Amino acid sequence: MKTTVPGPKSLELLGAMDKIQETRTVHMFVDYQKSQGNYVVDVDGNQLLDVCGQIASNTLGYNYPDVVGALKDPENLHLLVNRPALGLAPPAEFVSLLKTSLLSVSPRGLNQVMTMMCGSCANENSIKVAFFHYKRLQREQAGIDVTDVEAESTMKNQVPGSPRLSVLSFTGAFHGRTLGCLSLTRSKPVHKLDVPAFDWPVAPFPQLRYPLEENERENRQEEDRCLEQVTDIMKVWSDRNCPVVCICVEPIQAEGGDRHASPYFFQQLQRIAKQSGALFMVDEVQTFGVTGHMWAHEAFGLDESPDIVTFAKKLQVTGAYMKDGLRPDKPYRIFNTWLGDPSKLLVASAVVKVIQRDNLLQMTRKAGEVLLAGLKELQAKYPFLSAARGAGTFCAVDCDSTLRQASLLQALLNKGAYTIGCGEKTIRLRPSLTFQPHHANIFLNIFESVLSEQSH
Ligand SMILES: Cc1ncc(COP(=O)(O)O)c(C=O)c1O
Repeated sequence: MKTTVPGPKSLELLGAMDKIQETRTVHMFVDYQKSQGNYVVDVDGNQLLDVCGQIASNTLGYNYPDVVGALKDPENLHLLVNRPALGLAPPAEFVSLLKTSLLSVSPRGLNQVMTMMCGSCANENSIKVAFFHYKRLQREQAGIDVTDVEAESTMKNQVPGSPRLSVLSFTGAFHGRTLGCLSLTRSKPVHKLDVPAFDWPVAPFPQLRYPLEENERENRQEEDRCLEQVTDIMKVWSDRNCPVVCICVEPIQAEGGDRHASPYFFQQLQRIAKQSGALFMVDEVQTFGVTGHMWAHEAFGLDESPDIVTFAKKLQVTGAYMKDGLRPDKPYRIFNTWLGDPSKLLVASAVVKVIQRDNLLQMTRKAGEVLLAGLKELQAKYPFLSAARGAGTFCAVDCDSTLRQASLLQALLNKGAYTIGCGEKTIRLRPSLTFQPHHANIFLNIFESVLSEQSH
């Protein structure tokens, strides 16, 4: 490290940026040319171990050769130069790019995929899919088509054309910041405040004790309490004529504070959804690869695949996988100008090849074991840390206060380890999939030196 972070050059650039944009979220300016592998280099020449991973979205580290190679190939240049409207005029390579990227890692049983523009956009359009599906089934069962009254009333945002239907999400959930998704997001008031919202139901997400394996009995009771409430909510909202058509859940609540639930919880949730005719949607925007499984829900032993799985971040492209039969009844119901970006599919294709070729899921499991064991040792030594937890390298530890969280994060930055928080007082680790056990040890050493300074 050459300076504290942000250093003088970052501060100068922050000053210039602040004249035209919000800067309160910016940690530093980065030299992306010099950044390499798991190390990010800032404009002041500081080299930091990156455990933040661009908010959990960096897949292989910086300037990974296979990705650079794919983008440097002159044959691929047209995919970078031209930005097609994929719903109208996709490039010749589109289907094969989908096959070598998204479809080569699709969750079992989900062979339909739509591409989108960001994680929120993937969730937003997926809940529309759920509404379209519900109404289509209703019309098919009644043997009727869309009525004139529906067509007219929807133009006034009124029933029956804009029907009373709902989506259930959980306390602490984060599903994005677009207008529809905000009604599902329940992590922090600052995201939602002042924005009109749908009156949709919220169920409690289990507040489990860690380590999970030592608290199974109490945790099971807590999960049963939450599941009972889900069942009650489904009934109450159906009786109110605003049925829940989709249950939306993260496999591990991320922004809300790295909150885990057991396979049992997700199995039961899926069953409740199925019994009441709602779709079961798993938001895997933050969890691709990083738990040591391609998809975090693979660890849950579900009866069948979820109906919809959304993705973004580490896949480099965003969108949703869904079951056959969920495709909307008419074209243009799920649509926008770009519907993604084929040059990013090129990147995704290179990335998934490397994950499979180099067994990166296995490496993530190994690095995760080192990280979690190290966090547990540190929490035993420093009582202001607690609840070390994780799956793969998706690890976290709680601090005793929000103030402590902020001061540890800043001290880590100044000592060359870059990560961010989540929830109210959690430090979360979100390294790339090329993060190895030795990187984990480097992080733990830096963390230990920060902690020992703070405890004096
Ligand atoms: C689980 C989850 N869903 C949705 C989103 C929203 O994704 P984006 O920021 O790409 O819109 C995020 C972002 O952090 C997320 O973690």
